[in-house]
Amino acid sequence: MPGATPILTTSQGISDGRTAALWPRGNDSLPGISPAMIAPGSVGQRTVALDSINVPVEAAKPLLPSGRSTPASSMAVGERVRQAFGPLEGVVTDLYRASFVSLDREIETIQRWRPTARRILEVGCGEGAVCERLARRYPEARITGIDITPRTGRLFKGDTARVTFRTEALEEFTPRHEAAFDLVLLCDVLHHVSWDRHEGLLRLVKRTIRPGGGFAFKEWERRTNLAHALNYFSDRVLTGDRVRYGTKADWRHTIESIFGVGSITGEWHVPPWPNNILLLVDVP
Ligand SMILES: C[S@@+](CC[C@H](N)C(=O)[O-])C[C@H]1O[C@@H](n2cnc3c(N)ncnc32)[C@H](O)[C@@H]1O
Repeated sequence: MPGATPILTTSQGISDGRTAALWPRGNDSLPGISPAMIAPGSVGQRTVALDSINVPVEAAKPLLPSGRSTPASSMAVGERVRQAFGPLEGVVTDLYRASFVSLDREIETIQRWRPTARRILEVGCGEGAVCERLARRYPEARITGIDITPRTGRLFKGDTARVTFRTEALEEFTPRHEAAFDLVLLCDVLHHVSWDRHEGLLRLVKRTIRPGGGFAFKEWERRTNLAHALNYFSDRVLTGDRVRYGTKADWRHTIESIFGVGSITGEWHVPPWPNNILLLVDVP
């Protein structure tokens, strides 16, 4: 059902200090929305207007106590600039992102690697750009996107009958979805998360993948090139996050420490920059 309204399902979210430490700086600076506010509570059904679209939200209360979107004054610089484009926000965001990474090529490569995946999860899906490509490339699949931002899936366009967005931390989501997915993606998340949390997060990711399933890991590689300087500026200044990137060896080591030596069966640089590294991991 192209063009229909995306469903955001908001669950209990953040509930302890361990999770709160994963909360990126760009999110924890939002007045009115702190990890503590996404408290365990009953799940209700309501609709909140997020900019120009009405989004039905099954919400843990009180995620957004007043039922409003995040006040513009509390947003990172990049978000304020993007939202100033109004109805063109999605197009502008896509164009800007394309100057750093071709999400279409990224998802095309993943689909060629795992063409038969039917249950797909994206962890840290943000506003839905990767899920949008997944929905197009996998017309038979059911796709779930989770993120801790209250803006989860906000810019998604496409077949919402098969795509579910949940504003929920992986720490809360995993225990209810053990071995539930054929394919799990983690794209450009870890450089926004403190390094001492990487292994814990990857262990949780692994638990959501069925035996024989696949894990697609996309990250930004630290290199001494112009692209890296521009990307650092974009991440640090525009999102406000305290980002830290690894080298290719760092990312490979982190993945192998959780999924096992030899588990990375594919490695590809996503255009247009060599810094975009995609690692394809087979889960035994
Ligand atoms: C740079 S965004 C990437 C968005 C998307 N994957 C993409 O490539 O367009 C990183 C996202 O990871 C999310 N994130 C960080 N820690 C998380 C956690 N523990 N559980 C779920 N999402 C998390 C952040 O909120 C942020 O939206």
